[in-house]
Amino acid sequence: MDKIRVMGGIPLSGRVGISGAKNAALPALAASLLTADTLQLENIPYVRDILTARNLLEVMGVEAEVREDGTATLNAGRVRSCEAPYELVKTMRAAILVLGPLVARFKKARVSLPGGCAIGSRPVNLHIMGLELMGAKCDVVHGYVEASTPGLHGAHVMMDTVTVTGTENLMMAATLAEGETVLDNAACEPEISDLADLLRSMGARIQGDGTRTIRIEGVRELHGSRHRIIPDRIEAGTFAIASAITRGDVEITKCNPGHLTAVLTQLGHTGAEVTIGSDGFRVRGRDPIVSKNVATHPYPAFPTDMQAQYMALMTQGDGSAVITETIFENRFMHALEMIRMGADITIDGRQALVRGGKPLSGARVLASDLRASASLILAGLVARGETVIDRVYHLDRGYYHIEQKLARLGANIERIR
Ligand code: EPU
Repeated sequence: MDKIRVMGGIPLSGRVGISGAKNAALPALAASLLTADTLQLENIPYVRDILTARNLLEVMGVEAEVREDGTATLNAGRVRSCEAPYELVKTMRAAILVLGPLVARFKKARVSLPGGCAIGSRPVNLHIMGLELMGAKCDVVHGYVEASTPGLHGAHVMMDTVTVTGTENLMMAATLAEGETVLDNAACEPEISDLADLLRSMGARIQGDGTRTIRIEGVRELHGSRHRIIPDRIEAGTFAIASAITRGDVEITKCNPGHLTAVLTQLGHTGAEVTIGSDGFRVRGRDPIVSKNVATHPYPAFPTDMQAQYMALMTQGDGSAVITETIFENRFMHALEMIRMGADITIDGRQALVRGGKPLSGARVLASDLRASASLILAGLVARGETVIDRVYHLDRGYYHIEQKLARLGANIERIR
């Protein structure tokens, strides 16, 4: 299994281009199931989760080509199976995103329920509740959701928790339902609006995406389209912290700083100098790194997917910072590895108290999930000596060649095969 080796202590400098957003590309791939026509996608990041999604679509009979240049061509004109098998869903929870499109277009689906996850229990009850309100019968049998319907109809769905893929699943299902669906307390993440843009370009009638209430007027069918995926705001945020933590000077390009307002504002509070440009932004790390509390919340607030990376930064702060994780109940696994590197972190339920100013020293550490892996690389970039991060397959699920991009910014980092 691959590992990543980092020698810390080098301030990063230069320019890095951001890839397409994994979490926007995954629902876009699932949306191909909504039409018999061809869908052309651009700016798809060539990462493991995307290839898993492609494999899943192929198992169902979708002609799916995903290329390393970021383009993908999908045609679901000859779907032969409406089943998402356990073997694929267990490796990627976002496979649940095929549920809504399958029920909407084929009136049936059999999708393995994703099990537990390293970061929390992550149920999908709201996806199922919404589909039931829209006229689907859903049973859980042998670990699978089995859904069928004579035809979906519009419904008023009030979600008691903000869910990103739940909103996406129900928005896709509603595009082909009869009548109007209203999704209340919907997620507002940029990935939701990107999916809405794609669906509109396929003929869907959607309003209100980007707000807490989304209205979808169902249409009889959708058609093919071409769509460019938005840049990955979490990859951009990860490089922003890489610059700040190493007291570097990095220009982060091909991204949308407007999607990162909370993260960049927070970075500014910690003393980093952030300059916004037209195609991205520049982060100049400054001494001292000021310790500042943060709490994760749904967009537009500070994202849970940046919490681990921010914790790495706070280990180098000039005081103490409380990090509160409100989205997932177990997303502090990286803290235990950072402690092994010398960080002073106390976990109490959903809060972590990070006492800064402790020099980190390189160690062998284990990545527990995608963003945890990234945070351990960031810690390794400032640690004395060598850090070796194991289980980097988590990293490969969502970051495109992160070690090569960091190396081009001057980091002493390599993949060990
Ligand atoms: N929840 C429920 N019931 C549901 C669905 C969600 O209670 O039916 C709860 C979850 O347990 C959690 C909260 O709602 O406590 C939010 O979860 P959400 O459904 O929004 O998460 P997700 O859609 O499964 C997406 C991203 C995650 C990201 C979260 C939160 C994709 C493919 N994944 O997951 O990304 O952390 O939203 O922003 O879009 C990552 O990229 O590293 C990653 C984990």
